[in-house]
Amino acid sequence: MSKQVILTGLRANNDLHIGNYFGALKPIIDMAHKHAGDYQVNLFIPDLHSFTTPIDHGLLKQQINHIARLYIAAGLPVDNPDVYLYRQSYISAHSELTWILDCFTGMGQLTRMTQFKDKSANVGADNITAGLFNYPVLMAADILLYNATYIPVGDDQTQHLEFTRDIAQRLNAKFDKELLTVPHEVKTQHELFGKDQGLRIKDLQDPSKKMSKSDETGKGVIFLNDDPEVARKKIMSATTDSLSKVSYDPKNQPGISNLIDILALLEDSTPQLVAERYAGQTMYGEFKKETADKVADFLATFQKQLALVDDNKVMNTLEKSEESMRIVANETLLRVQQAVGLR
Ligand code: TYM
Repeated sequence: MSKQVILTGLRANNDLHIGNYFGALKPIIDMAHKHAGDYQVNLFIPDLHSFTTPIDHGLLKQQINHIARLYIAAGLPVDNPDVYLYRQSYISAHSELTWILDCFTGMGQLTRMTQFKDKSANVGADNITAGLFNYPVLMAADILLYNATYIPVGDDQTQHLEFTRDIAQRLNAKFDKELLTVPHEVKTQHELFGKDQGLRIKDLQDPSKKMSKSDETGKGVIFLNDDPEVARKKIMSATTDSLSKVSYDPKNQPGISNLIDILALLEDSTPQLVAERYAGQTMYGEFKKETADKVADFLATFQKQLALVDDNKVMNTLEKSEESMRIVANETLLRVQQAVGLR
């Protein structure tokens, strides 16, 4: 039997932040180290997804290479024969399968996607692109082309995973029950990653929102390329509360709990253990300072790793993986083309 595929991608529309890192990048890289040999690991750059909302196109090519370098700096073991690193737009089957899947997707279903509703709120209809509306279908194609069953993503993408399962089941029911590999239920996926739900790191200034690449001020977001000193200040000035206790209570103390989550992730510990350490403290200063120090250390180490990445190696890895993955993607595409009567 062929190996199960773990797959994820992070968009190249801006630099990555620690939510992206802990929500998707670190989990898949940890899997690549822990389960090498048992699973295939596909980490790709969804470059076609980068301009569902406006970007500076003059910077895109550079940004795509930068994301590939970030994956390697984060520890992706690209010399492992079960690990693939590729750019979506270099494998044309992504676009081709999307069109076919589009024709089996209801407008109503796409309209109900929370991310679409959030991103299109307060924007006139002419400023919302069909690409933004359609992007869950492209995401489903990204997953289904490679028969992936485990897809580490942050909590904001859970609905898109459910959608991917749904569309695969719909086509299988209509054409052939073995046409597409249905990814595992989201709960089963979390079990492999040792969690009970997807991660959602919050904005430091407004912990009712998720930390997001598109935050305009950047004050609520720790980017992987932030100067460690700047990041330290962002943590020190993070919004907290006046309850005067360091306890893990995301509902009543969202700001403090978010910082506890960040510190626990940096220490590879749990929020409960971090909170226990600070039990009884009535001031937030010491806790914030430890979090700020650990964030600054993490960024300094990461940025050192990034400076060591060899650009030739990145390019060779991309091209080699693209050659192999093009074959797999084209096999799935052909199966679907045959099922719908095109071949
Ligand atoms: P993107 O680029 O917006 O985000 C990349 C990953 O980071 C996670 N994430 C977070 N996790 C925790 N806390 C946060 N505040 C936070 N913000 C973002 C996202 O959940 C995601 O896992 N559509 C995807 C990219 C994509 C993809 C795919 C992923 C395209 N095709 C196929 C998996 C499989 C996206 O826009 O992610």
